[in-house]
Amino acid sequence: METVVSGIRSTGNLHLGNYFGALRNFTRMQHENNCYFFIADYHSLTTHPTPGNLYGNVRQVLSEYLACGIDPDVATIYLQSDVPEVTELYLLLNMIAYKGELERTTTFKEKVRNQPGNVNAGLLTYPVLMAADIIIHKAHRVPVGKDQEPHLEITRKFARRFNTMYKTECFPEPEAYNFGEKLVKIPGLDGSGKMGKTEGNGIFLSDGDNTIRKKVMRAVTDSGPAKPNQEVAEPINNLFTIMQFVSEPATLKHFKEQYARCTIRYGDLKKQLAEDLVKFVAPIRERIEDITADSGYLRRVVKKGKEKARESAAATISEVREIIGFRPF
Ligand code: TYM
Repeated sequence: METVVSGIRSTGNLHLGNYFGALRNFTRMQHENNCYFFIADYHSLTTHPTPGNLYGNVRQVLSEYLACGIDPDVATIYLQSDVPEVTELYLLLNMIAYKGELERTTTFKEKVRNQPGNVNAGLLTYPVLMAADIIIHKAHRVPVGKDQEPHLEITRKFARRFNTMYKTECFPEPEAYNFGEKLVKIPGLDGSGKMGKTEGNGIFLSDGDNTIRKKVMRAVTDSGPAKPNQEVAEPINNLFTIMQFVSEPATLKHFKEQYARCTIRYGDLKKQLAEDLVKFVAPIRERIEDITADSGYLRRVVKKGKEKARESAAATISEVREIIGFRPF
């Protein structure tokens, strides 16, 4: 049985990008693997060091995670900040992580561009904490979207380096994984780039039917194809990509053919996409609402997850301490 680890930051409600990048097919996965899913609340501080309502954010993401089909009796679901062994491994990995390689990570360079006023050390060592999250359970596979590829590459590097430096085979080299398919990037509704939490370009799993309709009707398009069979323009291709995930294949084929023939009407495309999204999101939103209302359930889930995660993490940490040479007196 393989071990799977996956995490989501608690910086906002989950959107379709999170779902298709990291969450779909969890229901099936958890029965076939040893799964650990967690909420990366420490990581959220790298961009939001003074969150207004950290507890509320974590609670929301926890409910949304569960609503996507995780069964806490089968998989382990926990909060990053509940497992101090992760931060110990993070500290130890920091000793074998080099400033240069962290500075060269594409995600770090992006963050420096986005938040030049807050280039903190947590941001620089983000991939070290992420590697600790993953290898603390000796994971083999990590369900993530395309944007996390550089982090998985660096995680493998740290795992390999630890094994080489300490002459051990302690850690497997984990692979980025997307449920048997290529890693995905779900685009946003604003014409370019990926769907994100803060950019205001996303459909959230908690969105109401009319919110979804309004967002889709406002999605960026263009003036239409100028000649038959031309390459599909980016904003339209983005809508097709989303459609590929939530609509019937025949629906997508129909609109692609209309585009190729220059007969496409974007209003029809959007209406269809909006209804398919509503159909997709509504049952998840209803589960989110039920789960959020049940504080006792959430408390039990977190307690159980913490115990199970710490058991696995403590075993790894005691092995790591011994490998490095910490000995009790
Ligand atoms: P976060 O919260 O930014 O994203 C969580 C997951 O959602 C995926 N994702 C997307 N996938 C496809 N298209 C999109 N538009 C899109 N937007 C987000 C991300 O790839 C990610 O899989 N660094 C992680 C959190 C983390 C983690 C870990 C993940 C911390 N430690 C250990 C796995 C294992 C992140 O980006 O979270």
